[in-house]
Amino acid sequence: MQLTLEEETMLAGEHGLGKRKAMELLVALGAIYGADRLIPITSAHLSGVSYKTIGEGGIEFLEEMAKDSKVMVRTTLNPMGMDAERWREMGVTEHFAQRQLHIIDLYRQMGVEVNCTCTPYLLSNRPKVGDHIAWAESSALSFANSVLGARTNREGGPGALAAAIIGRTPNYGLHLDENRRPTHIIQVEEGITKDEWSLVGHAVGRRLGACVPFFRGLGNDVNGLKSLAAAMAASGSVAFFMVEKVTPDQPSSLEGLETVHITRKDVEDTLQRLTSATEPDLIAIGCPHLSETEMKQLATYLEGKTKKSDVEVWFCTSKGVYLRCPKERAVLERFGMVLCDTCMVVAPIEGVHKVTASNSAKACSYLPGLCSQKVLCGSQRELLELII
Ligand code: F3S
Repeated sequence: MQLTLEEETMLAGEHGLGKRKAMELLVALGAIYGADRLIPITSAHLSGVSYKTIGEGGIEFLEEMAKDSKVMVRTTLNPMGMDAERWREMGVTEHFAQRQLHIIDLYRQMGVEVNCTCTPYLLSNRPKVGDHIAWAESSALSFANSVLGARTNREGGPGALAAAIIGRTPNYGLHLDENRRPTHIIQVEEGITKDEWSLVGHAVGRRLGACVPFFRGLGNDVNGLKSLAAAMAASGSVAFFMVEKVTPDQPSSLEGLETVHITRKDVEDTLQRLTSATEPDLIAIGCPHLSETEMKQLATYLEGKTKKSDVEVWFCTSKGVYLRCPKERAVLERFGMVLCDTCMVVAPIEGVHKVTASNSAKACSYLPGLCSQKVLCGSQRELLELII
């Protein structure tokens, strides 16, 4: 990789230890993927926030970086392992809470915005078409690539942090035009609703793996697309997809591409594959984090109804959306907890719950392995009907 004089001096340690380590990481990534140079980024989004996922090893790395490093671009954080105010109600231990707050403090010292969400694009960190960015969090980066027209690879937490500290990222993969072309056409059967796009995404990712699907006639529902992005990234590592008339960089030709049909049967099979239990002790909605529109839809549906079961219910969202929805929160709080900055997958629920229900194919894929849960996968309405 060709480095500028300034980059060479950062690599030599003349700008401090943190910048040297960040440069070493970027240079190593650039060498692995054949990048020609570093390119400037406009924002970063970091994963590796929950104490559950990074542990003491991750804290040591962050302590080292925080000694003399600051981020150079707007940088936001993924969900952490707990709601900063309601962690006791979630069943989180004192030890976990202390270590989690220490992690957040380290990021704060580096100049990172410490609202923790996987939907930063609904709030302050919304890249523009053509922006080069370095985002970790598979659902968010796929949304940024595919719906917003920004350009990012599927970064890991350390790579995204290194890019944030240098303000640059290696030029390879989805930063380049030649890798932003569709590999398959996806035709979704009529009658499959946007509430089922999460299952559609899981089916596509499972069938095709890391591809660039081009969806015909899907439409532009933001909430449906964020669920689709999350599920496809989880089942197939898809970091970029195209939607007809929605994705800013539309393909010049679809000639010769295979068409894959996603049918009602695929959706039902996916639902069954993800389900391993019927009686949840936790119902968790909000993967990816609930948007303002989703909070309103939930509140409208639940208004005037009564909770008839003692199953614990979580509505997971970002602090920004939480603050914008006081009326909706009041309705939802009669049925469960509206939690900020965390989610059912990165919180340590395995110590408290055994069976979790979710309407997210991404959450349902990860809950068995990351949280030792049996899972009930259902539509939002089916899940709410278990308690009203
Ligand atoms: Fe977000 Fe957690 Fe789902 S990070 S995409 S709510 S698994």
